[in-house]
Amino acid sequence: MDEKYIESVNKAASFLKEKGMVDAEVGLILGSGLGDLANEAQEAIAVPYEDIPEFPVSTVEGHAGHLVYGMLGGKKVIAMQGRFHFYEGYSLQEVTFPVRVMKALGVSSVVVTNAAGGVNETFKPGDLMIITDHINMTGGNPLLGPNDANQGPRFTDMSVAYDKGYQELVEDSAKELGIDIKHGVYMGLTGPTYETPAEVRMVRTMGGDAVGMSTVPEVIVARHADMKVAGISCITNFAAGMQESLNHEEVVEVTTKVRESFKSLVKTAISKM
Ligand code: HPA
Repeated sequence: MDEKYIESVNKAASFLKEKGMVDAEVGLILGSGLGDLANEAQEAIAVPYEDIPEFPVSTVEGHAGHLVYGMLGGKKVIAMQGRFHFYEGYSLQEVTFPVRVMKALGVSSVVVTNAAGGVNETFKPGDLMIITDHINMTGGNPLLGPNDANQGPRFTDMSVAYDKGYQELVEDSAKELGIDIKHGVYMGLTGPTYETPAEVRMVRTMGGDAVGMSTVPEVIVARHADMKVAGISCITNFAAGMQESLNHEEVVEVTTKVRESFKSLVKTAISKM
């Protein structure tokens, strides 16, 4: 991370502050099909990514996404409606740029969400899973390269990547709402292919309960920047080999089905943070 990168982060943050995104408390990263939650923010300010100086430029036409600021669960949140993925060709520094911007805007807690394949045989499509830990199988790390000690330590402790108190609070929220919640380890691969059945067996043998193509880089940077993290996966499918075939339409369809319980869960959890 060089000086220029930090300058870019600060430039984006200054712009967003001028737009009114001040005193933000909670950052929210919304996964595939889960972006609708940002539409519930009250007194919202939404800025398209392409309007934010220094923000990564979208690779998908007309599909950029928004940064949405507003009140959700009684907190000032900044939500990413759509995230940047490594498989789209962004560097891991670009993927995690918005997390640095959130930090610069004052965010101290981050809620990361994603769609994931269920590897644990007790999981079924539509389940929501509290991420208890992750395994970085991307082969990369956003912190590779020079370290800026003002941003965080050279060697980041990942002993408790997903805050224990937050895990409990998500669990309490699920109980209150009557949602049957799962717990598990998220393994992050690069994609964009879904896994082979052999890879899914590898994930299981290595201790993964769910598999996906995001989240790990953002959580690494959030921990580097000393932000507390809560993670929730929406299990959208049985992982490869456990059902006949996989496709993105099915992933989106399942996120749509669980949308309401997902939204109430995250909102309730934020209100307890
Ligand atoms: N594998 C990887 N990423 C995913 C999956 C999967 O099965 N489902 C949703 N995202």
